[in-house]
Formats: sequence, structure tokens, C-alpha cells
Amino acid sequence: MSNSTVDQAPSAPEPGRRPRVVILFGGRSGEHGISVATAGGIMGAIDRGKYDVVPVGITPDGQWVVADDEPARWAIADGKVPQVPAAPGEVVLPLRAGSREVRVVEAGKVPAVLGEVDVVFPVLHGPYGEDGTVQGLLELADVRYVGSGVLASAVGMDKHFMKMVFAGHGLPIGPYAVIKPGEWDTRRDEILDEVAGLGLPLFVKPARAGSSLGVSRVDSPDGLDAAVRAAQEHDPKVIVEAGITGREIECAVLGGRGDARPRASLPGEIEVTAPGHDFYDFEAKYLAEADVVLSCPAELPEHVIKEIQDIAVRTFEAVGAEGLSRVDVFVTPDERVVVNEINTMPGFTPFSMYPRMWDASGLAYPELIDELIQLALERPVGLR
Ligand SMILES: Nc1ncnc2c1ncn2[C@@H]1O[C@H](COP(=O)(O)OP(=O)(O)O)[C@@H](O)[C@H]1O
Ligand SMILES: [Mg+2]
Repeated sequence: MSNSTVDQAPSAPEPGRRPRVVILFGGRSGEHGISVATAGGIMGAIDRGKYDVVPVGITPDGQWVVADDEPARWAIADGKVPQVPAAPGEVVLPLRAGSREVRVVEAGKVPAVLGEVDVVFPVLHGPYGEDGTVQGLLELADVRYVGSGVLASAVGMDKHFMKMVFAGHGLPIGPYAVIKPGEWDTRRDEILDEVAGLGLPLFVKPARAGSSLGVSRVDSPDGLDAAVRAAQEHDPKVIVEAGITGREIECAVLGGRGDARPRASLPGEIEVTAPGHDFYDFEAKYLAEADVVLSCPAELPEHVIKEIQDIAVRTFEAVGAEGLSRVDVFVTPDERVVVNEINTMPGFTPFSMYPRMWDASGLAYPELIDELIQLALERPVGLR
């Protein structure tokens, strides 16, 4: 069957009108607050002379609302992450190909038109946003958006399928086991045998979460049950990994313009120095800034940097990512690079690693936002 929607899809805005960018943020996942903080960062840095901005928030229970266009309103203050409040009207994106009109619908009122959307910037982390669900909604409507499509987003969200794709592409990954929903209660002995082969320490994680939510380090077999239960709070599917000894290095990847290959930044390094945090956990990520050293660029020998960049680009291509992704690796004491994960919508506040790595590579935050929007505007809708 041919893809007829491609031909009908609206393209650039009419001359004289700035492209209208919907910044879509908040959402139903545990990473709601991080997304909100990112949206504030983007609102503060986006080139207003070049783009019209329409902020749309998603409340923690999934209502889409018109949000304040005030960067400061959405910043993390006193260690507290802001939240999108409920509002009377509901934002509705066009649900049919060929229309680009965003409306606000409220019971008993005439729907208000917010204007035509040219591109959506979904700064959503975690399930119901970074996992292909919102991307699917936008695909149905032929609306352009920043970042990966449905499949790459879904693969990047699910550490189980992510690892299978990485392995299928010959990318270096560590040993792991999967505990599918229900199996911890029905096949525990077999799983314990499998996990015994992974040694200690173990890292136990929800298959589909992020920001280290539900991730535990397990140093003795007695700790496994509690760790699996903690991961299951976030996802019925759980991954158990062999602990990797090595430095935590991240590399930012940007999609290529036109047919060009993706671009890799200089890598950055994360060192958690705080006592009581034996890995890069949720608190270390967002709250205890002073206790985490983010070095950008990371001090690494030139050949290791090249290797990381090569692996980061291959990882991006392996999952079919678009726009942006952060590829996180470990570099072992003998200089082996092991891929931990790809994040298709990485932390994106001005202080987050992804923008910082591009800044260190010569692309400042406002230019990075511009580049991502341009990449989204230039890409065709429909199957690509
Ligand atoms: N196999 C592993 N070996 C050593 N440390 C790990 C391993 N897996 C995860 N970690 C630690 O846990 C953190 C969170 O795990 P990660 O897989 O990145 O989950 P998330 O998707 O929540 O960021 C990592 O940043 C790292 O500090
Ligand atoms: Mg991570």
C-alpha cells in the first residue's frame, strides 16, 4: 500500500509567519518534574525572533493544558520540582492528517484556536512520552516533532529490547537477565540460577523507567528480593545486570542534516562523590548538585574518545534514533567501552549533560534548540 499522507502533509508555514513550536512537557511518568524543568530551560533560551512558542503542559494524570510561558515558573526551586497544574480547558492536537490546528476545548464553550502547529518539541521523559506513545499520536496527525519516532523511542525506553537491538548490531554490552511480569513469583529458582552467573554486585532496574527511579545496587543475594520489588513498583518487567566496574561516560548525539550521518559530541563524565550514594541514583541526578562532578569534556585519551564517539553514533543508528539521543557507556580500567543505555529524550535543562556536552563541542544551548527544531522541520512526515 502506498503512503498517500506524505503528499498531503502540510509543509513550511506560509511566508511571513514564524514556525510555531509547541513545547509539550510534564506528563504521566515519574519524571514529570524533570520534564517541567527542561521546558522552562527551553522557554528561556528559544529564539523568540525566529519561533512562536506555545507551551502545552500535561498534568501528572494526563490532562493536556495551556501552560504559562514563563521560564522562571517552571524552574527547580529549593530542591523541589514543579508540577503542571490542572486547568479548565483541554488542549487538543489535530487528530487528522492535513490539519495543524491546535485547539482548547472547554465544556459549554466554543473551542478556542491556539493556531497552527508546525513542530512539537516533546520534552517528555519516561513512559507516556519518551516511549513512542506521544510520537504515535503525532504521526497519526502528520505533525512534525523533535526527536525519535515511534519505534526508536519504544526501543530506547525498554532496556530489554534495547539490549537485544544493541547485541544484534554487535555493540558491546554487559551480561544481564530479564524478569518478565509475574516470573519472580512463578519461576524464581530458574531466575536465581541465571542471576548467580552474573556475579556481584548486581544492578536491578525497571525495564521501562528512567532517572534511576527504582534502580538498586545489590551487593549480596539477600538483597535481591527487595530490589526486584522496588523495580516492580515502576514496571512489572525487571532487568538484572552484572555490575560493570568503570568510569561513567556519556556522549551526546545529534541527527545529521539531510543524508549526513549523526554527529557525536565530546564525551562527558559523571562522578558521584557524595557519601551514601554508591551509584548515580535519582537524588544524585537532580537534587544533590554539589555531590556530583560532571566533567565536560571528560579527560580521556584521544583514541578512547574516538571509540566512544564511534560507538555512540552506531548506537544511535542501531535503534533508528532521530534528532537527539544521549548514549551512556562505562569505560573499564582496561579501556573497554560498554554501552549502558540510549536515552532518546535526555535531560535537557541548560545544566544537563546533553546540552553541556554540545556546549563543550561548540554548540551553545540556544543554537542546539534551534538545530533540533530545524532537523524536525526538514524531515518528512509519514514513513521515512
Ligand atoms: N551494570 C551496571 N554496572 C554499574 N553501574 C550501573 C549499571 N547499571 C546501572 N548502573 C548505575 O545506575 C545508574 C542508573 O542506571 P541506568 O541503567 O542508567 O538507569 P536509568 O535509565 O534510570 O538512567 C547508572 O547511571 C549507573 O550509575
Ligand atoms: Mg541512565
